[in-house]
Amino acid sequence: MKFAERMSRFSGSPTSALIARVAELRAAGKNIISLNVGEPDFGTPDYVKVAGIKAIVDNFTKYTAGTGIIELRKAIKEKLKNDNNLDYETNEICATVGAKQAIFNAIMAIAGPGDEVLLPIPCWVSYTDMVKFAGATPVFVPVKNDEGYILDLEAIEAAITPNTRGIVICTPNNPTGAVYSEASLRQLAELAVKHDFYIISDEIYEKLIYDGEEHFSIASISPEVKEHTVTVNGCSKAYAMTGWRLGYLAASKEFIANVTKIQTQTTSATSSISQKAGLAALTGSQHDLEVMVAEFDKRRKYVTDRLNAIPGISCTTPKGAFYILPDVSSYFGTTADDGTKINNAKDLANFILEKEQVALVPGEAFNIEGKVRISYSNSMENLCEALNRLEHALSLLKK
Ligand SMILES: Cc1ncc(COP(=O)(O)O)c(C=O)c1O
Repeated sequence: MKFAERMSRFSGSPTSALIARVAELRAAGKNIISLNVGEPDFGTPDYVKVAGIKAIVDNFTKYTAGTGIIELRKAIKEKLKNDNNLDYETNEICATVGAKQAIFNAIMAIAGPGDEVLLPIPCWVSYTDMVKFAGATPVFVPVKNDEGYILDLEAIEAAITPNTRGIVICTPNNPTGAVYSEASLRQLAELAVKHDFYIISDEIYEKLIYDGEEHFSIASISPEVKEHTVTVNGCSKAYAMTGWRLGYLAASKEFIANVTKIQTQTTSATSSISQKAGLAALTGSQHDLEVMVAEFDKRRKYVTDRLNAIPGISCTTPKGAFYILPDVSSYFGTTADDGTKINNAKDLANFILEKEQVALVPGEAFNIEGKVRISYSNSMENLCEALNRLEHALSLLKK
């Protein structure tokens, strides 16, 4: 039987093989510590759960408007105004099945065959395949790795062609933990306006930010920049709601009208129950979020310090999200006592998993070599044990 031509354009999730191997090892009784997770290890706040339960009890369990219930869109409008200095009307907002669907819909709305979408790399695994799904071409532009993974505006400008339809940026960033400065975002905005392309601004890690850094929403620069921007956010990371599947995007009315066509003919809308829960999350106490951020901050400092103390490993201190992307390339070309050869980050991640049962994601998954991504969304106890194991695994590697 044949499959559609488009299926040959995707590689599938590069992390799924790792997840499968972790499951196999766990089934074999191994005590794996997962530093590969992309979601908070905290529970959804109680008041949010209660709002979800109430929605079910009240039979709020039917289809909603494709863009989401009006109360939720009003709450998002208020959030964008208060937190991000953005003025969007409720008809410029669409609730989605996670931020993932928001980004997918936005890419589908702007790009097709012959079009190009710029992706600063390393980048989140899904952007590339979403662009390919749309039939467009991803154009990779490395960030400045040695300067804290900041945007390379000159390289971005050089990559712009008449076919450039957009750029997808993520700040705070997965996988680097970088937070883009207002100055760099202003420069990027100038390019987008000058060359008339869209900025899809993935702000899903907005609330997970440290060291007094401030998140800046690129659309707040001017009405002209806002017209060129799709602001994406959601409840997954800030409110530990990954399984509820609630994200949103905000853009011009015309943009939302196009996105609504995609949404209503695919998922219809996101879950009515999750919309009520999200409404509670956005309008309720932010105490749980503050507790979570304080805990992530402690872990971030601990893991960065421990990593930098390991010979041959170096990493910049991430300013946001819950990831660290250390350079491990000094271990390439080494051999373990059992004969395992390490030639790249994939080999290293496999070795650490098999030898010491710690799961990390090789940088190749994010289009970068020489790095591994470590998620500190795990208990302090597990992080401490994982770093002991990591140190031990690396001590077995000799040139
Ligand atoms: C950078 C980035 N954007 C978007 C998402 C998707 O978020 P959601 O779970 O709301 O779809 C993720 C999830 O890992 C992410 O890391």
